[in-house]
Amino acid sequence: MRRFTAIFMALSISAASLAAQTKTIGISTDKTDLVLQVAEDGRLYQAYFGEKLLNAEDLPVIPLKKVRAGNGTFNTRAREVCSCSGNEDYFSPALGMVHADGNRSTYLYFESMTQTSVPGGKRTDIILRDKVYPVEVVLHYEAYPQENVIVSWSDICHHEKGTVRLMEQNSPLVFVEAGSYYLTEFSGDWASEARMSTQELRFGKKIVDTKLGSRANIFCSPFFEVGLDAPAQEQAGTVLMGTVAWVGNWRYTLEIDNKNLLCVSAGINPTAADYELEAGECFSTPEFIFTLSQNGTGEASRDIHDWARRYRVKDGMGRRLSLLNNWENTYFSFDEPKLAACMDEAAKLGVDLFLLDDGWFGNGSDARNNDTSGLGDWEVNHAKLPHGVPGLVKAAEKAGVGFGIWIEPEMVNPKSALYRKHPDWVIHQQDRELYTYRNQLVLDMSNPKVQDYVFKVVDDLMKENPDIKFFKWDCNSPITNIYSPYEKQRQANLYVDHAKGVTAVMRRVAEKYPEVPIMLCSGGGGRCDYSSLRYFTEFWCSDNTDPVDRVYIQWSFSQFFPAKTMCAHVTSWNSQASVKFRTDVASMCKLGFDIGFKDMSDDELQYCRTAVQNWKRLNPAIMDGDQYRLVSPYETSHMAVNYVSKDKSSAVLFTYDIHPMYSEPRLNVKLQGLDPQARYRVVEINLMPGAKSSLSGDGQVYSGDYLMKVGLDALTGRQMNSRVIELIRQ
Ligand code: GLA
Repeated sequence: MRRFTAIFMALSISAASLAAQTKTIGISTDKTDLVLQVAEDGRLYQAYFGEKLLNAEDLPVIPLKKVRAGNGTFNTRAREVCSCSGNEDYFSPALGMVHADGNRSTYLYFESMTQTSVPGGKRTDIILRDKVYPVEVVLHYEAYPQENVIVSWSDICHHEKGTVRLMEQNSPLVFVEAGSYYLTEFSGDWASEARMSTQELRFGKKIVDTKLGSRANIFCSPFFEVGLDAPAQEQAGTVLMGTVAWVGNWRYTLEIDNKNLLCVSAGINPTAADYELEAGECFSTPEFIFTLSQNGTGEASRDIHDWARRYRVKDGMGRRLSLLNNWENTYFSFDEPKLAACMDEAAKLGVDLFLLDDGWFGNGSDARNNDTSGLGDWEVNHAKLPHGVPGLVKAAEKAGVGFGIWIEPEMVNPKSALYRKHPDWVIHQQDRELYTYRNQLVLDMSNPKVQDYVFKVVDDLMKENPDIKFFKWDCNSPITNIYSPYEKQRQANLYVDHAKGVTAVMRRVAEKYPEVPIMLCSGGGGRCDYSSLRYFTEFWCSDNTDPVDRVYIQWSFSQFFPAKTMCAHVTSWNSQASVKFRTDVASMCKLGFDIGFKDMSDDELQYCRTAVQNWKRLNPAIMDGDQYRLVSPYETSHMAVNYVSKDKSSAVLFTYDIHPMYSEPRLNVKLQGLDPQARYRVVEINLMPGAKSSLSGDGQVYSGDYLMKVGLDALTGRQMNSRVIELIRQ
C-alpha cells in the first residue's frame, strides 16, 4: 500500500511556514485526492482536489492558496469547506444560519476528526464548532476507493436558547480549479426527461434547482457534469460528475469567482424552507455524491454504476425481473377475465411477472375508473375484482408468473373517501381554491399519522398477499399551495419535513420487505435520486416509450444510473418503429412490456419471446457488467453501446440507426472493455423469425483487440433500425 486513505497528522517543522500548526486530512479514492487542511486560524480549508498524488508524503505539504489569517482579508474565495453566512467570504456559503439572538454570522473551527470503515470505503467525520454560539457542525465524507466515488453531507446541531434558522443547507463545498468549465445539464419536462445540453460557465452563479416538493425531477434532473478545460467527453478529459440525493427540493450551485475558481455546492433549495431548528435537534443536509474522472464520462459512469450496485441501490447486486404491465394495454378498463388473459400473455412472453397498474381500487362513486377519483382509498374495487387481490395473485400463479401491483400511496384525489375523512392530512391551504396536478393533492408526510397510513398501504397488501412479488410506487403531483395543518407554527420546515417523512416511510417498507423489488415511478422519470434508490430496486425513466426518444433518455440517465435500475418497456408508442426496434431499445435497460398481444403479429410475438430469453441470458453483461457508450445520439444519427460481463466472458453490442441521412459516411463501431487477448464469436441475435443477419462478420471469431481497434461495420443507413450483437468468448 503506497498510502493510506485518510491522513491526520501534524506537519514536520521542515515543511512550509504554516506547518507547525497545520493538520491535513486526506479523503482519497484510488484515483482522486481531496485534501483538507486546518490552517493557523483553526478553520478548515480545501488544499487540493484532483488526480490522486503518487506519494502520500506530498499531501501535507500542499500549501493552502488562501487562508484568512486574521491580519487581512482576501477578495477571492478562501476555499473554506464549510464557509458560513455572515463571514468575510463574499461568495455563497455552505450553511446560512440565523442564531436565536438574531445574529447571522457563524464561524466554524476545527475540533476533531475520526475515521472509520464502512462497507467498501472509509468514512471521515470532522467536528467543527463555533466559538461564540453553541453550534456544532459535523462534516461527513465517505470515500469509496475502488469506485472513485465520494459521498459528503453535514449534520448541524445547536444548544442555543431558542430556535436557530437555517437559511442555506448545503453539503461541504468542493472547489475546482481549471482554465475553463463546461456544464452539462439534464433538463426537460414530462415525457422529455433529462435532455443533455452543454454551456460554458463564466463569472457568477449557475443555479439549477427544483421546488416540486414531492419529487426530484420534472424540468431538471438532480445531477450534472462539469468538463474541465473542455466540454465533458465520453472517453477523455477531466470531468466532475455529481448528484444530490434528495427526494424533495434540491439545488446545486456552480459559482465562479473573480479569480476563475469554481465552487460547487449541493443541497436543499432554501426557497420557502428556512428551516427552524430547536435546541438539541440535528439537521442533516442531503448527500452530495460525486466523482472526478481523468478519462471522461464513460469511466465516471461505470464507477458510479459499480458504486450504486454495490453500496446504494436496494438489492443492487440481485436479479431483476422482466415483466408485462397492463397500463397501456387496458388503462383503467379491466376485470378479472381481462387480467387473466394478460397474465397468460405474460407467461407466453416468458417474462417473470405480470404487473397490475392503476385502477384496481376505490368503490362506488369514488371508483378509480379514471384519474379523477379514488386515489387514497386502497380498498380493492369489488365490481372489477370480486375475488380481490388474493384472486389475482392466485390467477398469476396459475398462469405461471409472479404478481406485481401499482400503488401511489402519497397522493389523494379530492374526490375520495380519504380526503373527505381527513382533509387535514393533505398539504394545502384550505382557504384557497384547490390547485391540483393530475387531479391530485399531496398527503402531508410531515405528519407521523399520515406516514403510518402510507406505510400501511404496502403493509396491508403484503399481509393479505405475502406472495406479491413486485410493487410499482408512483407519485405524480408536486406540492402546490403549501400549508400543513400538522406543522402549525413550523410551516418553514414543511418542504424538508415532508421529504424526510417520505424517506422514512420508504425506509420502513424496505426494512420490513427487503426481498420485494419496488419500482420508483413519478409521472415518468420524476424520481431518479439516490436517496430513494436506497429503498427501491429500479426506476421508471419516462412515460415516453417512443423508442427514438428513449434512445436519448436512456443515454442521459445512464450517465448516473446502472442499466439494472432503469426500467424500459416495449409499448405501442411510435408504432412506425418495428416491434424489434422497440424491443431492442428496451433491452439495453431493465426489460419490460406494456403492450397487448392484439398489437403484435405471431412473428413479432415469437421475436419478443426470443428477445426475453436473450436478455435474461445476457443479464451478467447488461445488468451487472460494465457499460461502454460508444456512439452518441446527440452527436450522430445513431447510437451504440456495449456491455461486458465482469469476467469478460460475455458481451453484447446494441446499435441503433435513428434517422441516418442518404449516403451518410459510416464509421465502424469499435467496442470497448473486451479482453484484447481473448477471442470472441460475433453473432447477431434478436432477429425476426426467418430473417438472416446482414452483418458483415456475423458468425466469425475475432480477437478482443481486433474488435476494439478495427471494430464492426454494424451501423446501417436504414431508419429506425437496430442490431443486437452477442460476443461469445471462445
Ligand atoms: C403515471 C405513470 C404511468 C402509469 C400511470 C397510472 O403516469 O407514470 O406509468 O402508472 O401513472 O395512472
